[in-house]
Amino acid sequence: MSQGLVTMSYIAATILFILSLGGLSNQETARRGNYFGMAGMAIAIIATVFSDSVNSYVILIMALLIGGFIGTKAALKVEMTQMPELVAIMHSLVGMAAVLVGYANFMDASLTLTGVEKTIHEVEIYIGILIGAVTFSGSVIAFGKLSGRIDGKPLTLPGRHLFNLGLLIMAIWLGKVFLGQAETGGGTFPLLVMTLIAFAFGVHMVMAIGGADMPVVVSMLNSYSGWAAAATGFMLSNDLLIVTGALVGSSGAILSYIMCRAMNRHFLSVIAGGFGTGANGPAAEVTGDVIAISADETAKLLLDSKNIMIIPGYGMAVAQAQHTVNEITKLLRSQGKTVRFGIHPVAGRMPGHMNVLLAEAKVPYDIVFEMDEVNEDFPKVDVSIVIGANDIVNPSALDDPNSPIAGMPVLECWKGETTIVLKRSMASGYAGVGNPLFVLENTRMLFGDADKTLQEVLKALKM
Ligand code: TAP
Repeated sequence: MSQGLVTMSYIAATILFILSLGGLSNQETARRGNYFGMAGMAIAIIATVFSDSVNSYVILIMALLIGGFIGTKAALKVEMTQMPELVAIMHSLVGMAAVLVGYANFMDASLTLTGVEKTIHEVEIYIGILIGAVTFSGSVIAFGKLSGRIDGKPLTLPGRHLFNLGLLIMAIWLGKVFLGQAETGGGTFPLLVMTLIAFAFGVHMVMAIGGADMPVVVSMLNSYSGWAAAATGFMLSNDLLIVTGALVGSSGAILSYIMCRAMNRHFLSVIAGGFGTGANGPAAEVTGDVIAISADETAKLLLDSKNIMIIPGYGMAVAQAQHTVNEITKLLRSQGKTVRFGIHPVAGRMPGHMNVLLAEAKVPYDIVFEMDEVNEDFPKVDVSIVIGANDIVNPSALDDPNSPIAGMPVLECWKGETTIVLKRSMASGYAGVGNPLFVLENTRMLFGDADKTLQEVLKALKM
């Protein structure tokens, strides 16, 4: 394929990626956005495969087949609730790719750059490996935390900020040594030491972040993976990779900012870690009696109410209850009741998790609201149904300064007349904190798997 055609294909792919991101910003256009993304990626792969820079089709086809096979297998096997883990491990691959491309470039004897160009290329290699290594090890730890293989509690080493600062200073100093030695064909040792430091930094950074702050980490690593891809693009002189990496990097950074704002956290404080440690003392114990309710009683309460708010959380995803939720919603709406959904920005385990599930079940978009749009309305709500949510409806976030989730805005359902919480037990949520909502006078607990109990409620509603 001629270079002109490759360049044109890359421009087309870039436009499709931008359209894809634009589409993904809205539920109604998200599906189209995905198609744009797929088309862009297909064009990018075809153009790269047929470009002049490829000289061994055997290796390339083998790599495509092996990678494609593993990717397809993983995507087919993964449960919706494991999606964040899959995304985290994918980010780690982008990071590792940047590290490997960096080393390959460093050892490539066929490159005959001189003077400033050589120095710029060495800086690209150094920064590419640095970002790639942090992304790799950070994403592996994030994968461990999200899948429950590593404890979600933040690891707070004494003097951790100084430790991080020390690592940063060493990485900068090693960069200077590397550039000096690379002039005369050396530099392997400082590059290797820096890679180890970057691995350690990635591990330490994510280990220090508390459970409730993981959403920020996921989107932050997403951003890092973008910058790692952009760095790879610089090393390989591939414009499309640079542009795509920058798109992912900047959109990930914007998402991290939005997440931080939604959780009332400062970005730098999250990165520095140590949130969720209850630094000023232990979080208050939750004491009091729980009032259980049956599916029949729940149905009766719903039939007697006019204004209903549904608050879905991670448990709805686990129970795959969204279809039953939609059936109940349709039935209640057909009886003239106002039914709305209140979505917390970090409900579930990934950005937009609840919106995806509700869209899959065909819940109308115009009754699905963001937290800020409905939080003031709770005093007028007759019944709130909390479906497998916990942290996002925890009042201690607002009134217990020692709570690990202190300061995070939550859906204030307890201000309504009655709250019904659907969950299987009294277990805590992702952040591992007790929830005083469960023992409030106007709260009723409907125990059991959310889909099963909702099926019973639906049956009772139809009687
Ligand atoms: P959680 O606080 O994790 O609570 C989910 C609740 O669902 C649990 O208490 C669990 O209680 C219940 N549950 C699980 N399976 C169930 C089933 N089959 N049927 C009924 N209930 C079930 O979830 P949330 O309220 O959605 O809050 C999200 C949390 O995840 C936040 O802490 C957030 O920071 C964190 N997080 C979010 C993200 C993103 S980007 N959204 C990413 C990483 C982490 P039982 O075991 O008693 O049933």
